Amino acid sequence: MPRKILVTSALPYANGSIHLGHLVEYIQTDIWVRFQKMQGNECHYVCADDTHGTPIMLRAEKEGITPEQLIDRVWHEHKADFDGFHVEFDHYGSTNGTETKGYAQDIYRKLKAAGLIEVRSIEQFYDPVKKMFLPDRFIKGECPKCHAKDQYGDNCEACGTTYAPTELINPYSAVSGAQPERRNSDHYFFKLSDPRCQEFLRKWTRSETLQPEAANKMQEWLGAEDENKLSDWDISRDAPYFGFEIPDAPGKYFYVWLDAPVGYMGSFQQLCNAKGIDFDAYWKQGSDAELYHFIGKDILYFHALFWPAMLQHAGFRTPTKLFAHGFLTVNGEKMSKSRGTFITADSYLKQGLNPEYLRYYYAAKLNGTMEDLDLNLEDFVAKVNSDLIGKYINIASRTAGFITKQFNGKLTEMPESAHSAFGQSVIALSNEETDRADINPQSVSKLDASYDDHLINNPQKLLHEFQLASHDLAPLYESRDFAKASRLIMRLADVANKYVNEEKPWELSKVGNEDKLHFTCSMSVNLVRILTIYLKPALPNLAVQVESFLNTPPLQWSDAFQTLPGGHAINPYQHLMTRVDQKQIDAMIEANKETLVPPPSPVRHGEAQQHLPSPLKGEGANVGAIAPIISIDDFSKVDLRVAKIVNAEHVEGAEKLLKLTLDIGEEKPRTVFAGIKSVYDPEKLKGRMTVMVANLAPRKMKFGLSEGMVLAASGEAPGLFILGPDDGAQPGMRIK
Ligand code: MSP
Ligand code: ZN
Repeated sequence: MPRKILVTSALPYANGSIHLGHLVEYIQTDIWVRFQKMQGNECHYVCADDTHGTPIMLRAEKEGITPEQLIDRVWHEHKADFDGFHVEFDHYGSTNGTETKGYAQDIYRKLKAAGLIEVRSIEQFYDPVKKMFLPDRFIKGECPKCHAKDQYGDNCEACGTTYAPTELINPYSAVSGAQPERRNSDHYFFKLSDPRCQEFLRKWTRSETLQPEAANKMQEWLGAEDENKLSDWDISRDAPYFGFEIPDAPGKYFYVWLDAPVGYMGSFQQLCNAKGIDFDAYWKQGSDAELYHFIGKDILYFHALFWPAMLQHAGFRTPTKLFAHGFLTVNGEKMSKSRGTFITADSYLKQGLNPEYLRYYYAAKLNGTMEDLDLNLEDFVAKVNSDLIGKYINIASRTAGFITKQFNGKLTEMPESAHSAFGQSVIALSNEETDRADINPQSVSKLDASYDDHLINNPQKLLHEFQLASHDLAPLYESRDFAKASRLIMRLADVANKYVNEEKPWELSKVGNEDKLHFTCSMSVNLVRILTIYLKPALPNLAVQVESFLNTPPLQWSDAFQTLPGGHAINPYQHLMTRVDQKQIDAMIEANKETLVPPPSPVRHGEAQQHLPSPLKGEGANVGAIAPIISIDDFSKVDLRVAKIVNAEHVEGAEKLLKLTLDIGEEKPRTVFAGIKSVYDPEKLKGRMTVMVANLAPRKMKFGLSEGMVLAASGEAPGLFILGPDDGAQPGMRIK
């Protein structure tokens, strides 16, 4: 009986690009799903963009578009990235749809009916200019410990201290610059502290649903049996918010993390609608279908506590297992924009790098645990070239040509296959042993070498070894130990290459030993076919090319126990994969490096003008790196106006600032603090015309509110020069 399996990957946020860190998860899941499908199981893989929340709302506003326009654009970008890496979802949806909304409201209503929702008033920071409550990461201020400026509301990047946003010195809104106020508002809570939730979660987390490391973490979160360490979960946010409104609670929205996992259901519902699948068969309590969520270790809390508790108490089934993975590092360090190791999926593909290099490399590193994994770029080049090109591809490229040239493309009969029902692969066993620390690897490799010789002289045994390895590889794929699977597959590839080296088809051809040549090359092609089956979950595109070269229908897992029949004609071999070139890697790193030298910035809200070193010498010495190209629409978002400096004065206690009063034809003049004290005498500025940005978010400063910014030029050479229009320009005229 085929298993019924529903698989998800975490839903990526719709406000950022897919990068190589994300791809660890989507590639891991895709390999597992493809393996299940090759096994003949009924397996559905769904995902979606996670579209709600404050950052997405603000980002859209900043770009001057609606959130719907933003998430639509990003959906297409994400989809193209996933397609580019052969991540094959059965459906890729969006949480901003009627299906997710329906289930989110349904779950909420059921939790409420069960007495698990409570309304409480809480105090939070409120931005009086932007008229919205501020999430922690949109509040900045001075670190209470080390006094570093401009630190986020939850922790200091300079000294690492964590604190509450209320502890910041001189807090300001990162959105408007205004000083936040404390305000009360009603919030909706999911009562995770309820004994029913506690009891259920204790049971659920011990029922083999989690990896051992995750189960331990859960014990920590839940505390001892007589403790109640879980606190209620705030599931509402006040308008303005981009999300779903809470039923019967005007102006209140579901917090993005409430509807995000519900997006798994919403996306699956869309698949069901399209394909006629029975939704309830997968989601009803008591369902016999399996449900697996692949996630990163950072979002375990949401998936192992909130999510199952929500499902359980709303009458749905809970996940069969959570599969958490670790984080990606590049060259042993956290991905970094300045080092160019924050690599986007798009930039990888744009370099013309084959996506299957990365799929293979990740497969070779993923072992089903929550350990972090490292993309070492030197190792990446070496491993891909040695394993894929040097081992796997090499077998076909050295033998297939003889079949085409000398035997009309036709293969000869193979010895009888192994019986799928019994036997074990000795190579697999010894491979397993080399993984064990208590075995001396040297003695094992000796044993291997003599066993290899034995196989090479007994081609039927060689074939059987390849076939029986299927029994060892299937459980490795099932348990997501792709690393061990790929080691075993490469061990088999080594033996196949030894066989070719030993038989030397090129010499058999020279001396005219036709029978042996035909057999050796046919055997090699069959061994390639079996290796292709085993590699297909990780290398689906390469497998399609090999299937076309072998002239066979899509290979399934059980096909390993057959060979191509005598007389079967293959197509001429065409080169399957090229080597990775280090130059492409270097170019990719370069392309991802964020400019270390930002373009000269105007005098903004009184910030001291920095004299940045210019990368150019000679005539270009006053020219910093030119900023990326923008469209005319981007430019027209900046409202530049002719301004008359009606007053300019020193500010008491300010070292660098002048306080300017600017007339731009409005009822009331504006106040702008500008860092030009070192170069301008305020008396000489009075009455002059200049240029200001009139639609910059106001910023609360120590000396008062700054309502815009004047423009000034500066470069490597000394000096700072405010701009002025030609004679005749009137205050308030727009500069376009
Ligand atoms: N939107 C949430 C998930 C909601 S699921 C109901 C989210 N999005 S995310 O875009 O930040 O991350 C998506 C997935 O990618 C997460 O599982 C996350 O752990 C994973 N990764 C993001 N960066 C990663 C690395 N550097 N390394 C490995 N996985 C990483 O979280
Ligand atoms: Zn600090």
